[in-house]
Amino acid sequence: MITSQITKAVIPAAGLGTRFLPASKVVAKELMPIVDRPSIQYIVEEALEAGLTEIIFVLSRDKSKILEYFEDNPTLNHFLSDRGKLHLLDDLKKFQKHCRFQVVYQDKPLGLGHAVSCAKEAIGNEWFFVFLPDDLIDNSPSCAQQMLEAWKTYQGAMVAVMEVPWEEVKHYGVVKAQPISSFVGKVETVVEKPKREEAPSNLAIIGRYLLPPEILPLLAQVGIGALGEIQLTDGLLKLAKNKGMYALQFEGERYDVGNKLGFVEANLAYALKREEMKKEVLDIISLLATSR
Ligand code: G1P
Repeated sequence: MITSQITKAVIPAAGLGTRFLPASKVVAKELMPIVDRPSIQYIVEEALEAGLTEIIFVLSRDKSKILEYFEDNPTLNHFLSDRGKLHLLDDLKKFQKHCRFQVVYQDKPLGLGHAVSCAKEAIGNEWFFVFLPDDLIDNSPSCAQQMLEAWKTYQGAMVAVMEVPWEEVKHYGVVKAQPISSFVGKVETVVEKPKREEAPSNLAIIGRYLLPPEILPLLAQVGIGALGEIQLTDGLLKLAKNKGMYALQFEGERYDVGNKLGFVEANLAYALKREEMKKEVLDIISLLATSR
C-alpha cells in the first residue's frame, strides 16, 4: 500500500523548439502565450491543482527564462500594487506561495528518457508526475487529478492515453492495454513511434505520467531507441513487465501546442473559454471564414 502523498512534478522543457523557429530563437516555445499566459503556465497550474508543490524543470542552459518567469519579480509586484492591479499580482504570486521550483539541466538532447533521468536526484525515492508541456489538456477535474483518483484504486504506474487516428500512431508512444474498467486498462505492451502496421493499437500516450522511483534504474538500462534517442517509453515497457502499469483514458480536450496548428487551435479554444472575449472571438472567426 502506497501511503505517501505525491508532491513532485517533472516538466521536461529542454527541447530546441525547432518547429517554432524563427520565434523560438529567442523565446522558449514553452513561454509562447496561449491567449495571455505562457503555455507552460497551464501545465504548472494543472500540477498545482493536483496538489503538486515541487516543480522540477528539466532545461537546457539557454532556457533559464522559464524559471525566471515563475520567480518573484519585486519591481513588477510594486508596479502592479501601485496601480491597483491586484488580480494580476495575485495571479503571479500564487506560484511563489504554493510551489517550490527547481531546475536540473539536460545538456544534450538525448531524448525524453534521458531528460527524466537528469532529474533523478531531485526526484529521490518518491513517486512523481511527468508533464510534457506540449500537451495541454483542458478539463475539470484535470487529467492529473483524474490520474490521482485512479491511482488511489490501482496504486500503480499510470500513463494518460487517448485514441488517435491510425495514421498518427507513428508520432506517439502507443500502448496495448487489457481493459479493467471503463477508463482504465492494464498495460500489456508499449512501443514508441511505431509504424501504423506495427502499432499494437491506436491508444496513444499523451504527456502525463505518474511514475514510481523504480523507473529511474530501468531508464539507466535503456539503450538508444526510436529517433536515435533514449525513450521514456522503453523504460515504461520494462516497468510494465516488472511491476505493472495502467493506462487511463482521460476526459478532456487535448491540444498539441508543440505544433503550429495545435498552437493556433489552443489559442482560439482558450480564448473562447473567456467570457469577456467569447463573442468577439466568434465574430473574428466567422469574419475570417467568410472573407477568405
Ligand atoms: C513524446 C513521447 C511519446 C508521447 C508524446 C505525447 O513524444 O515520447 O511517447 O506519446 O510525447 O505527446 P514527442 O511528442 O516528444 O515526439
